[in-house]
Amino acid sequence: MIRDDLLVDLSQVKTAEQVEQVRVKYLGRKGLITNLAKDTDFSKFTLEEKKEFGQQLNQLKNFAAEIIRDSAQKAAAATAGAGKKSRLIDLTVPGSTGSLGALHPVSMVQLEIEQIFEGMGFSVLDSPECETEFNNFESVNVPKDHPARDMQDTFWLDNDMLLRTHTSANQVRALRRFGAPLRSIFPGRCFRYESIDPSHENTFFQCEGLVVDKNISVAHLIGVMKTLLSEIFKRDVKVRLRPGFFPFVEPGFELDLNCLFCGGGGCPTCGDGWIELIPCGLVHPRVLEFGGIAPNEYSGFAFGLGLTRLAMMKYGVRDIRHFNSGDVRFYEQFAAVI
Ligand code: FA5
Repeated sequence: MIRDDLLVDLSQVKTAEQVEQVRVKYLGRKGLITNLAKDTDFSKFTLEEKKEFGQQLNQLKNFAAEIIRDSAQKAAAATAGAGKKSRLIDLTVPGSTGSLGALHPVSMVQLEIEQIFEGMGFSVLDSPECETEFNNFESVNVPKDHPARDMQDTFWLDNDMLLRTHTSANQVRALRRFGAPLRSIFPGRCFRYESIDPSHENTFFQCEGLVVDKNISVAHLIGVMKTLLSEIFKRDVKVRLRPGFFPFVEPGFELDLNCLFCGGGGCPTCGDGWIELIPCGLVHPRVLEFGGIAPNEYSGFAFGLGLTRLAMMKYGVRDIRHFNSGDVRFYEQFAAVI
């Protein structure tokens, strides 16, 4: 009887609380099964009957405890399932998109330049940012006490090496390694110990170009510069070539770009209407000698393009300091350009 009543009660429960109520009803301190022994008059029982009663009572208790425990587990699982249902994805909620990385604007210009030069048969060389004093200065004809050293102050390291001030530091290394004829560019980061302003950073990028072959002249240099600029800006740009002094070229030039912000009238970015962009010239015989190349047999031209400044012009960035600012709002504007 009790057993059947228990099964009926359990068939109607839905929650863990209801199962607990059933447990108390049957197995609690005053529960129906617990009371069975109290309510029975054992005086009329034989020893054998007492034993039989005890065994059956224990079986009933065990059965009840087990089936109540099962019901409690099922009720708990059902409650958890109902909770899960309420966490189902709502497809109508607008999604949150992760932010995609993008190339730095200077990297984009660098890749574009590499492609242009590869199209003209140049190889692209990697080169170290941390240099010897010899490569950065002496090998490009800037001896220890030469006043040209003052134009490029830098950061010195404890081991007498330095952070290179220009990519020209790789000229002699490239000549020694690959010899002549050579037609290469080496883009990379440079460092200078100088005050920063809208067009000067202490960390910026240059792209060196070096061509060494027989009978190379200024005409080759101008031809390559023109091809480069017309491909980069995809329109006619005004440039001017003026004499420039660099101990590692002879003759030396400054190729300036007419400022694309003010059209040449003068502004805070350019000053006088021109942006100094590509210093260049014919490779000095001493540099060729340092590189193991015979100057009476070979000649060449070199240039040191200001890559960060070029990125300013190309993307209309008026202040160079944005490039190293680490401000994601600045970089995000270029993400779509890739
Ligand atoms: C040089 O560094 C020479 N090595 C370039 C060269 C190579 C000349 C080969 C002849 C032959 P200069 O100091 O002018 O030159 O720097 C070259 C370019 O780097 C500049 O025109 C400018 O665009 C860029 N530049 C120089 N200093 C900075 C700076 N502080 N911040 C941003 N760009 C700079």
